[in-house]
Amino acid sequence: MLYITKSWSIVTALDARTGKELWTFDPKVPGGTGRYACCDVVNRGVAIWKDGVFVGTLDGRLIKLDPKTGAVKWSIDTVENHAHTYTITGAPRAFDGLVVIGNGGAEYDSRGYVSAFDADTGKLVWRFHVVPGDPSKPQENAALEAALKTWDTTGKYKFWDIGGGGAPWNSFAYDPQLDLVYFGTGNGNPWNRELRSPKGGDNLYLSSVVALHAKTGEYAWHYQTTPGDTWDFDSTADVVLADLKIDGQMRHVLMHAPKNGFFYVIDRETGKLISAQKFATVTWADHVDLATGRPVEAPGARYVDKMAVVFPAATGAHNWQPMTFDPQTGLVYIPAMDSAGIYAGQKDFAYHHGSWNLGVDFAAVSQAVLDAIKAGKVPPPSVGYIKAWDPVTQKEAWQVAMGGAWNSGLLSTAGGLVFGGDAYGMFSAYDAKAGKKLWSIDLKTGILAPAMTYELDGEQYIALLAGWGGAGGLSAFKDPNTALSKYQTDQGRLFVFKLGGRQQVAALAPEGVPPSEPPPQTADAATIAKGFTLYHRNCLVCHGFFAQSEGEVPDLRLMPKEIFAQFDSVVLDGALADNGMASFKDVLSKDDTAAIKAYILDQSHAAWDAAHPKK
Ligand code: HEC
Repeated sequence: MLYITKSWSIVTALDARTGKELWTFDPKVPGGTGRYACCDVVNRGVAIWKDGVFVGTLDGRLIKLDPKTGAVKWSIDTVENHAHTYTITGAPRAFDGLVVIGNGGAEYDSRGYVSAFDADTGKLVWRFHVVPGDPSKPQENAALEAALKTWDTTGKYKFWDIGGGGAPWNSFAYDPQLDLVYFGTGNGNPWNRELRSPKGGDNLYLSSVVALHAKTGEYAWHYQTTPGDTWDFDSTADVVLADLKIDGQMRHVLMHAPKNGFFYVIDRETGKLISAQKFATVTWADHVDLATGRPVEAPGARYVDKMAVVFPAATGAHNWQPMTFDPQTGLVYIPAMDSAGIYAGQKDFAYHHGSWNLGVDFAAVSQAVLDAIKAGKVPPPSVGYIKAWDPVTQKEAWQVAMGGAWNSGLLSTAGGLVFGGDAYGMFSAYDAKAGKKLWSIDLKTGILAPAMTYELDGEQYIALLAGWGGAGGLSAFKDPNTALSKYQTDQGRLFVFKLGGRQQVAALAPEGVPPSEPPPQTADAATIAKGFTLYHRNCLVCHGFFAQSEGEVPDLRLMPKEIFAQFDSVVLDGALADNGMASFKDVLSKDDTAAIKAYILDQSHAAWDAAHPKK
């Protein structure tokens, strides 16, 4: 049987030979939860242990399902404090009778933590918080007492009220010999360290790899990749364990290529850094000093008084899409990106529960992009590629360009192949040694998840869950060549390949209605300008820069007249809350929504006029 997870944490089991659906479990996550998931209502998979299939749900539950029937065996709420914003999008990891799960929420007001539950009973066995809590109270353990010393507690905004961040929202690795569990931790909350810890400090254990003793959850060691993170440089990318011969000696290492653009090789027994080099375009730091293990930051990379432009962007040089290690070639294959990030501190920041609390002004950033475009200085588009990396020499072996920047995780096989897909819908196999493309198919659906492989009756299969969205899909600059833009449907599809399989793939039917002429504009320029600011602070993260979306959530420029007429019923009254468009009544007034509507309408007319030039 194959188990897949879909948007809204829905699990489906299929017959691995035929693709026949056997059961589907829908945890019925309330639609309004969508607003509290920074980067889409995605789910990164299940874990399997003996008599259980385990899934984390967007609203923070961990559920054990019967593998044969999908019946619920137990369901627990992993959220310790509902006054803060937590979601689960990551896959649990199960080993040795334990199920480990983390959480997301560090764009809002979360204090990240990892929990381990008994696979049989669902009882909490241990919990490890990534960042300190209220400094006036004793911390949960000695590791957090030590971490507290790296935070400034005197700022106007109390980091423990806003959460602090560090969300361990992606995956876990386990080493049974050392009995250690490894995971990467997320960005600071707010992003802007000036607000979180104004006198500086490393802010442990943000943006780190952390190792815990698997049975007890006790701290073993940490390595921080971005001390004092202020750029949203999560270190949540996957942690890959390998044994490598370095300087003639076999070393038990872990490999990690987080958002910040450095490839780290770390001794996984001690946490000591062995080597670190840039695997993509990186300007925020010059290099990592091997004596101290710390990055040497570039002057001006922190946006303290003025805007900063640095590589990589907040989506990272490598995000959650898994890299893969091939012990035969000794190479790691990374789904890498080159993209520039623009950061500006928000002068009038005010903490608001349930909203993004970044301390970064997306309106100022969007204005800077607009000014650059007007001056003829179009910012370089983000690019994505597969990068084959030698972890011993810390050098590139080969790279191939992909369609789009936000592309799939990778799979390497013993047959000497690397499989990867892209935002344009192409799925390809490459020669693992040299990177030559050996096979390719247009699936007409964007691809983010890595492929996986299995063998049945002596035959090898490659399975790929195609579907596209996430952080890079929602808020990136519109790319008309993505499969989503081209085919206007965000339905995912499961493809399974074998030698001699069928080659034809048809596009799915487009969703939504064709655009109609927008209603007349009645607002003045000042209202439209106010709408620009409010739109980019509140709506950009899902509906895209300049109200231009790829189509995963509606492109608001193309809204039907009826929706323009009922704008407030959607934005203030939550008419579409069940579908993930929650009410913004808690942050926006009627005047605010009128201004946002005026800005969107301005963009609608520009789009309509461009598509219908006057004769
Ligand atoms: C967390 C993601 C998210 C954010 C943030 C968000 N939206 Fe939405 N929005 C959605 C989704 C998802 C839908 C589609 C709902 C559906 O399918 O019914 C939607 C639909 C809409 C629609 C209906 C469009 C149509 O053509 O049917 C409007 C209007 C809208 N949003 C306005 C806004 C405004 C204004 C903001 C900012 C104040 C905003 N949204 C912020 C996710 C979001």
